[in-house]
Amino acid sequence: MKMHKLILSFLLFIGVVSFSCKHYPTEFCTYPVANDSIPLLSRIAFGSCAKEDKDQPILKVIADKQPDLFIYMGDNIYANTEDMDEMKGKYALLSCKEEFQYLMASNPVIATWDDHDFGANDIGSEYSKKAESKQLFLEFWKEPANSPRWDHPGIYTSYYYGDSTHRIQIILLDMRTFRSPLKASGSEYIPDPDPSKTFLGTAQWAWLESELEQPAQIRIIATSIPFASEESGDETWSNFPLEQQKMYDLILSTQANGVLFMSGDVHYAELSQRNVPGLYPICDFTSSGITQVDPFADGNQYRLGSAIVTRNFGMIEINWSLPDPEIKMMIFNESGNEVYAHTITLSTLHF
Ligand SMILES: [Fe+2]
Repeated sequence: MKMHKLILSFLLFIGVVSFSCKHYPTEFCTYPVANDSIPLLSRIAFGSCAKEDKDQPILKVIADKQPDLFIYMGDNIYANTEDMDEMKGKYALLSCKEEFQYLMASNPVIATWDDHDFGANDIGSEYSKKAESKQLFLEFWKEPANSPRWDHPGIYTSYYYGDSTHRIQIILLDMRTFRSPLKASGSEYIPDPDPSKTFLGTAQWAWLESELEQPAQIRIIATSIPFASEESGDETWSNFPLEQQKMYDLILSTQANGVLFMSGDVHYAELSQRNVPGLYPICDFTSSGITQVDPFADGNQYRLGSAIVTRNFGMIEINWSLPDPEIKMMIFNESGNEVYAHTITLSTLHF
């Protein structure tokens, strides 16, 4: 987090210090869960960065767009604590919100985490309550008892939707449990070329390789922090350039067609596109935030068009009826108005 954001956070901290002393509910409110059978996945909504102590009217706007699926991309609450009672209380506040209950009843929802719901600002594997935080996360999001997420460290997982000719694979990465410490200069993170530094860790990388070898027409790789944006001083994959390159190399070696990155965290929305030798264009579609937005966006030479700096959510809409299906990437504001759109065809995501 850059200095101007730290100052903003400090001022906010002064304003909310009394709130941090409050008593939180001790149990989650019961919330409904929509039928998660999705025969054909065509409309995928997503968002990130939602403070549990704020109203979240955009959740109703999302639900009223009737997506087939909504993906929580992380910072779904701002836990920022090693006190598991406090973390549970913050999840409980979210669970009791009428607009959250409305969203959860309206469409299937899947989730990954980022730093604030993992445990603390910009933190990685050094967080001391990884196991406890994971337990709360999986309980809150009603992870099925037979989910492989319970069986390995971290919360990475994948989902498959549609038949063999309309198959969408959604890969939810865990960007926190295994992440090495970042390198900083002053208040800015700088690229660290140390080959021992990792985002995903050995086991998650091996799992990802096996996932990319599975058949699918479209593969959404959900990474809570941006993958393709420029080095910005904030958290992006460019903090560990060898890990970013490893991802490119993995897409190349597996010949995985249809990869599209999805991300959050940054408090604005944007679409980035990287043209890497030997690969098809690599898109990274970012939406943030549900409640948290900054008045300006970081520089990013790979951004297509302008960033959106008002509260927003993203939508990916696939027109399967065309011989070469179109993939439309849209950003909506909290009034439900489309404020950004960019369309590509599936064939452009092929080797
Ligand atoms: Fe974050």
